[in-house]
Amino acid sequence: MDLKGRHLLTLKDYSPEEIQYLIDFAGRLKKKKQSGEIGQLLKGKNIVLLFEKTSTRTRCAFEVAAFDEGANVTFLTNSQMGKKESIEDTAIVLGRFYDGIEFRGFKQETVNLLAQHSGVPVWSGLTDLYHPTQVLADLLTVQENFGELKGRKLVYVGDARNNMGNSLMIGCSKMGMHFVAVAPKSLFPEDQLVDEMKELCQKTGGSITLTEDIKAGVAGADVLYTDVWVSMGEEAQMAERIKLLSDYQVNMEMVKATNNPDVIFLHCLPSFHDLETQVAQDVKARFGLSEMEVTDEVFRSRHSVVFDEAENRMHTIKAVMCATLVGE
Ligand code: CP
Ligand code: NVA
Repeated sequence: MDLKGRHLLTLKDYSPEEIQYLIDFAGRLKKKKQSGEIGQLLKGKNIVLLFEKTSTRTRCAFEVAAFDEGANVTFLTNSQMGKKESIEDTAIVLGRFYDGIEFRGFKQETVNLLAQHSGVPVWSGLTDLYHPTQVLADLLTVQENFGELKGRKLVYVGDARNNMGNSLMIGCSKMGMHFVAVAPKSLFPEDQLVDEMKELCQKTGGSITLTEDIKAGVAGADVLYTDVWVSMGEEAQMAERIKLLSDYQVNMEMVKATNNPDVIFLHCLPSFHDLETQVAQDVKARFGLSEMEVTDEVFRSRHSVVFDEAENRMHTIKAVMCATLVGE
């Protein structure tokens, strides 16, 4: 599979075979790391990581993945881009220095422009619209637990119109999975993307269901997935979201309603499942909630594989960089 020179801006741009290749390649790289073998695939490469929004997993995954295979990394949060310099000029300059560019930020248009003008592979580390590298890690985790992706039912509960809702719907549709969004109607994904993915499902054998009915939606789930109720940049909407989504919390009652004793729980993280953080304590003081999208009980239960999923960010991002820069 030749993916050299390709960008990763959304999984919409990748075929099911290409996505499967990246997942399997990540699995091989994971084994390689576990065996202690020192990688050289990215030796001599320079990579820049541009961040407008905060991150733990994505930044660290890119850095460790790059270091593991011999690349050098620059972490850039205070560039001139968008302030004293256009995105186009920034892209051209970075493309002269670097072999690959990661961008995390607000607008999808920014990452698209970087890709258009830099002349090197550009990888999205999340925008308001999509989070493609996260979904690759999610799919690897599902494959590790169930052997294959096709036919599996992934139920996403919560804010179904955010970057995770969109990207999981795309990833599941591509891989012939059954995607169910359980959410209030006002938080369903955009009609245009739903229609596009429904059409794709006719070819892949997947399906898409959007429902407000929690019990019917989660029944038979192989994977229960949720994300924060308020994404980065939307903090002002906290009160409104809590009102809309409090019935959609993933708790043990919901896990039981899947009728699947082997259902796994996934969350891209970070998650509000306990009171440890300052933000959670503020939420408790303002809204009386100590747990939000998932209870601590589910988060720490045998169903939860969220830390395997987090680790898989690194292996899948490594596969993306290696495949698009040099091949296997
Ligand atoms: N899941 C994820 O993207 O985590 P970070 O925000 O910590 O990068
Ligand atoms: N929807 C979340 C995902 C974080 C990884 C956000 O954008 O904040």
